[in-house]
Amino acid sequence: SAVVGLNLSNIQGDILIGMRKKKELFFFFSIDNPTAFKSRLGSDILPLITRTTQILPNATHPPATAVNIAFSQRGLNVLGIRDDLNDTNFKNGQMYNVTATLGDQTSYWEPAFAGHHIHGVFLVASDTIDKVKATLSRIQKISKGSISEVYRIQGHARPGNEQGHEHFGFLDGVSNPAVSGFAVAVPGQATVDPGIILLGESGDTGTRPDWAKDGSFLAFRQLQQRVPEFNKFLVDNALSEPGLNASENAELLGARMVGRWKSGAPIDLTPLKDDPVLAVDHNRNNDFNFTHPDDPNFDFKTNQSYCPFSAHIRKTNPRADIANPFNQHIIRAGIPYGPEVTDAENASNSSSTDPSLERGLAFVSYQSNIGQGFAFLQQVWANNKNEYLYFALRIGEDPIIGVALDGERFASGLDPKNQTRNITFNEDFVVSRGGEYFFSPSISAIQNTLSV
Ligand code: HEM
Repeated sequence: SAVVGLNLSNIQGDILIGMRKKKELFFFFSIDNPTAFKSRLGSDILPLITRTTQILPNATHPPATAVNIAFSQRGLNVLGIRDDLNDTNFKNGQMYNVTATLGDQTSYWEPAFAGHHIHGVFLVASDTIDKVKATLSRIQKISKGSISEVYRIQGHARPGNEQGHEHFGFLDGVSNPAVSGFAVAVPGQATVDPGIILLGESGDTGTRPDWAKDGSFLAFRQLQQRVPEFNKFLVDNALSEPGLNASENAELLGARMVGRWKSGAPIDLTPLKDDPVLAVDHNRNNDFNFTHPDDPNFDFKTNQSYCPFSAHIRKTNPRADIANPFNQHIIRAGIPYGPEVTDAENASNSSSTDPSLERGLAFVSYQSNIGQGFAFLQQVWANNKNEYLYFALRIGEDPIIGVALDGERFASGLDPKNQTRNITFNEDFVVSRGGEYFFSPSISAIQNTLSV
């Protein structure tokens, strides 16, 4: 439930609650005529931009199609903005040094992200592709001649019961931090100062120009998911829990790699079997912190019988593993892209090389400091073999998103019966196709600074 404290009509809608539609287009553009674009931005584009207030659960007339806009550093330069937003990652752009930092192989990068032409992105979200297309046409008509398309990704929710689930089959969008002054935390949910997500708010330690207040950095990633390979890995490396059959033991391995069952139920609360009711109960599905103080025989610093240290959700949000509240939090607002796995891919246990069959996650995260948010989670936690920050254990990379920067990619703790056993991944199930860092400005910044 929203409480007063932030100027929600000044904050773009995707940042704090996400546009939460079935279809979302990412339209990456280049600004060809800055003067013409600015004038259209300030006049006819501005009214199309969706504010947080318009899509709150109690909003009276939520727009059928929500629109947000964000700019890369190159885009701000082209608009003539000289102020420094004071974020090194944003300033350099995502491509800079990306192999050494995030572990990307730039040979896999989509050429559009590797080029120098992306100045901004429109996020266009609606229930149908037709409505998305209609709004995009409107935007293109308004900005005619001043911008041109560089690249686009059409995101869409998966069909039927898979809606809300990412392509490996796991429910996504479950755990995000609560922003104080905006939302009241459900049990287990971290509360962060608004300045961890929004520039210029309390908790943001950066020096920012006044106009940057209530904007947020948007980290975009096109993350390809190799689904048949992932499924084959689970079958080939199925665990051996007594009482579970082979396919349940394969499911269990997947759940331990993520830290949740496909339903969304956290394994820290239900380690050996799924619990679909718990999965969707918002008052319980975040109510865990890996420590189990009620279990006298359990030492959370060594025992991984509930949740492995390497599990994706524990790597990216270690909760009570870190003794004091920490600021390494992001708000995620991504959506799947690409088609369902085909029969031919399933039969061959391998992803098609046909580019039209590429699938994955159009990953979006918001944070006020990319080096404390997305880049920290990927580089310092997910890609790190050591869980050195808290207990000096060698646990391997994040099984889902981790990249081995040195040696083999592996994770320990996945086998409950033999927790020191390293399970090796001979391949990556998630491959970065690149991305860019953007700044999602406040409405007043668009009106008074970026369009003048
Ligand atoms: C949570 C999948 C990429 C950070 C989750 C969850 C799933 C998931 C299934 C659990 C449900 C939830 O809490 O929403 C994936 C997949 C990815 C991906 C398939 C790539 C294709 C990333 C990346 C990051 C990230 C790149 C950041 C570097 C997080 C965080 C959480 C999360 C912070 C919440 C952890 C918590 O608070 O418990 N992800 N993810 N994910 N993921 Fe990812």
